[in-house]
Amino acid sequence: MLAIDGPSGSGKGTVARRVAERLGWHLLDSGALYRLVALDASRKGVAFDDTAALAEVASRLDAHFLTAKDGAERIVLSGDDVTAAVRSEETGRGASAVAAIPAVREALFDRQRAFRRAPGLVADGRDMGTQVFADARLKVFLTASPEERARRRHKQLKDKGIDVSLAAVSRDIVDRDRRDSERSVAPLRPADDARILDSSGKPIDEVVQIVLDWVASI
Ligand code: C5P
Repeated sequence: MLAIDGPSGSGKGTVARRVAERLGWHLLDSGALYRLVALDASRKGVAFDDTAALAEVASRLDAHFLTAKDGAERIVLSGDDVTAAVRSEETGRGASAVAAIPAVREALFDRQRAFRRAPGLVADGRDMGTQVFADARLKVFLTASPEERARRRHKQLKDKGIDVSLAAVSRDIVDRDRRDSERSVAPLRPADDARILDSSGKPIDEVVQIVLDWVASI
């Protein structure tokens, strides 16, 4: 069991996916669950200040993570392919808002724990090492400078054909970091026993290899 936490744009999504592939382990993208709650709530017209209704959405979430024949991941929400919508900046902002609600986190807790199956799980998020899998054998807190994280996120969006300025992405990252770190419930912080890995200036392959070496050493 490997927990990888860190802020937006630290590269943890990519690192978690590659490490899981190399080890042949399952993958939990916990951020996608919070994104799905935000998306489902907006599709159902649930107000983002109606905490009880949001918790209900979280506990009834009808979501599936599928792998298409070409290996691409597809996310299906109540029968609709929402793969692109889940990754949008708007959904990310919504996710950060619903993630601050304790009842929503509670509603997603067991669902996240259920991803832990043989031969192993790589769990990617903000509170994998501190809350959901506090008993993980290895915890990695992946970080990078805010400038580098903004540049990476900007490139990712541009590659997807989304036209947004670097300044806007930067602002979004700073806002999201603040909201995620300052919230009272499950704030973003490294677990006491986490290994901190700063990926600034490191190619992704090198970061993946460091994590694989750590897994092999425990
Ligand atoms: O990682 P990703 O950008 O998909 O996460 C979206 C949002 O979901 C984060 O900004 C954070 O507020 C929330 N989140 C969380 N706990 C997690 C994963 C994500 O609060 N374990």
